[in-house]
Amino acid sequence: MRSTFLPFSTPTLEDAEINEVVDSLRSGWITTGPKVKRFEEAFKAYVGAPYAVPLTSATAGLHLTLLALGIKEGDEIITTPMTFASTVSMIILCGGTPVLADIEPGTLNIDVERVREKITPATRAVIPVHFAGQSCDMDPLFAIAKEHGLTVIEDAAHAVGTEYKGQRIGSLDSISIFSFHPNKNITTGEGGMVCTADENLAEEISLMKFHGMNREAWKRFAASGTPNYDIMMPGFKYNMMDIQAAIGIHQLPRLDGFIDRRKEIAEFYNQEFADLPELALPAYAPYQQRHAWHLYTPLVRIEKLNIDRDRFMEELKKHNIGSGLHYKAIHHHAWYREHMPVADEALPNASYASQRILSLPLFPKMTDEDARDVVAAVKDVICANRR
Ligand SMILES: Cc1ncc(COP(=O)(O)O)c(C=O)c1O
Repeated sequence: MRSTFLPFSTPTLEDAEINEVVDSLRSGWITTGPKVKRFEEAFKAYVGAPYAVPLTSATAGLHLTLLALGIKEGDEIITTPMTFASTVSMIILCGGTPVLADIEPGTLNIDVERVREKITPATRAVIPVHFAGQSCDMDPLFAIAKEHGLTVIEDAAHAVGTEYKGQRIGSLDSISIFSFHPNKNITTGEGGMVCTADENLAEEISLMKFHGMNREAWKRFAASGTPNYDIMMPGFKYNMMDIQAAIGIHQLPRLDGFIDRRKEIAEFYNQEFADLPELALPAYAPYQQRHAWHLYTPLVRIEKLNIDRDRFMEELKKHNIGSGLHYKAIHHHAWYREHMPVADEALPNASYASQRILSLPLFPKMTDEDARDVVAAVKDVICANRR
């Protein structure tokens, strides 16, 4: 057994990031400033988005996007139960009603046919989540959205570097929201970005992200600026700082290499686990796409074992292998059980996955030996607990 604990994820940070943060700290300008602008421009160019708004998190991006679209009480937004809480929380906090559509059993992405069934006259938007970094099937989703006049908001928190039919997520005809949380494909500590082709929407979100102020502080306090400003609307405090962007500036050029390494490890897992009937491995979508391999999420077939998924994770920990839970489905969480109960039979695929899913270690700094340790631990746990 390995002697040190292997976490399920850890960021790949090098001297370039550290030196850039130190440079910001020494410069006297640490909040939103020229480095945020540099990161915004570089990110926009990478994903191919006409406009990009850097923020403190993807959660902030979801919040401001829904507000900018005018989502209000009575509006229904269709999304997936296999997501992080904030996708759904932001709908509720804007006054909207989340409507959960079931997922496909293999990719765990939202099932477009189930989306169609959930549309009512109150439906305003759909939020697909590119689960684990694999693109949802966007063409049929766009077709349904067009037919019913719905806005598509991509929760692209997992999808920095993902492509759908040759196009980067961020450049499709929609709104995409990325996360730079430390376990994501690139990080800024915490951070997020909204990408869109809609100039007015980008402007509205920009305004709302910083107090509704017509000019950001760094422009006002620059030698060429003037300290005066106007408040155009009541706004939030969701602006990314230069010390965050300093990290992102050096992460982005390494992203493609990070994804290549993630893919190598994921394919090694797929190969090593292929003959284990106790695991259902993540499926590749049938259309052309680039999987960014944010997560590696097999399902544990608990019917074939004496232990449940949570015990499986505890047993892995005893082997010094960390794991993550992405996700316990939304309708299985306490608040949703109480306030918006949905029967498991109404979301059979998400309910099934919710009780069986786990995330195995997957990050670019992992060595081949780390990956072999994960495989050995998984096989040990299965052998020791077979029915
Ligand atoms: C699918 C999904 N949506 C939204 C978020 C929120 O991202 P952030 O932590 O940047 O607010 C996450 C973060 O884990 C996520 O995984």
